[in-house]
Amino acid sequence: MKLGALTNDVAIDLGTENIRIYYKGTIIDEPCVIAYDEYNDNIVAVGNEAYEMLGKNPETFTVVKPLEGGVITDFEMACQLINALLGKVIGGVIKPRVVATVPCGITDVERRAVRDAVMAAEMREVYLMEAPIAGALGANCDVSLARGMMLVDIGGGKCNIATISVGQSVTGRLVRIGGNDFTQALIRKIEENHDLKIGVHTAERVKKEIGCAFQRENDETTVVSGYNVKTRKPEKIVIHSEEVREAFLELLDKIAKEIKTALDETPTELLGDIMEDGILLVGGASQLYGLAKKLRVDLGVKVFLAEDAEACPVRGAGLVAENIDKMSENNSYVFTKC
Ligand SMILES: Nc1ncnc2c1ncn2[C@@H]1O[C@H](COP(=O)(O)OP(=O)(O)OP(=O)(O)O)[C@@H](O)[C@H]1O
Ligand SMILES: [Mg+2]
Repeated sequence: MKLGALTNDVAIDLGTENIRIYYKGTIIDEPCVIAYDEYNDNIVAVGNEAYEMLGKNPETFTVVKPLEGGVITDFEMACQLINALLGKVIGGVIKPRVVATVPCGITDVERRAVRDAVMAAEMREVYLMEAPIAGALGANCDVSLARGMMLVDIGGGKCNIATISVGQSVTGRLVRIGGNDFTQALIRKIEENHDLKIGVHTAERVKKEIGCAFQRENDETTVVSGYNVKTRKPEKIVIHSEEVREAFLELLDKIAKEIKTALDETPTELLGDIMEDGILLVGGASQLYGLAKKLRVDLGVKVFLAEDAEACPVRGAGLVAENIDKMSENNSYVFTKC
């Protein structure tokens, strides 16, 4: 399968932080945020524009993230956001079919919420596929083989650990830890160490610029501005990469422990394949500097970071969207028509 067949069908990877849409060879990536005026029943902004308003919006409207921990928590807002972004991407073409990703390990009600939210945008048909399988396909892995592979998708709100064989997940663990938790841990650590309150956007920048899961060869630094909670004055300080790593340690250990449990629960035949081939990381937060190395050391298994890791799930779902008919004829297991 290859991308670029240019059907009208669409893929959506709906995430806690980002919504990604694949359409005709292009991936559109916007924050999963909507600004809504309840009084006038109006959408004020979606995606990037709404993200800029987070924490800065006037009382007349609310800025909402409709997903938490990888699942829809505000159904109405999720529908509005999907509808607005799909409209923006596909314009007025005939209603396409949609392949939407869902984490493995969620409830039927949570799966149905994704299907219903997409259907509310008046799409022709919805197919659901598990995000780890989409991630593996998007990383160019052949998931149809009778060979065990372990894929870990670490996004903004969740970590999804799956063992895959013959196009299906054999085991799936959903852990509600993601990049957002790293950002919040950093905010807490900086206040604890320096009495300095910093904003989410600043913490995100620091995490990506100098954050690390494994000690960097050279200590990196960056300047952050915030509000001193003791003096009640604005202040600028220098933060070191080691301090950021310390803030992340507890979360990193929890993720390693969950993967270890998933390995322990993997059927022996598949475990042998995973020990040989290693574990693949996808999702935005897996790009934290040194994460693959840290997990390799903790688990004693090879761990690889996929190229363009955050786009892997939508790329994989895009591949399926472009081949819906062919895959349906072949009774492919990787997706289900709903
Ligand atoms: N280079 C980086 N280093 C550390 N974290 C990063 C980096 N790039 C992105 N992230 C983090 O990745 C997260 C977003 O990842 P992604 O877009 O895969 O999440 P999502 O799909 O919206 O969420 P989920 O799959 O958990 O529902 C954010 O928390 C972001 O800060
Ligand atoms: Mg995701």
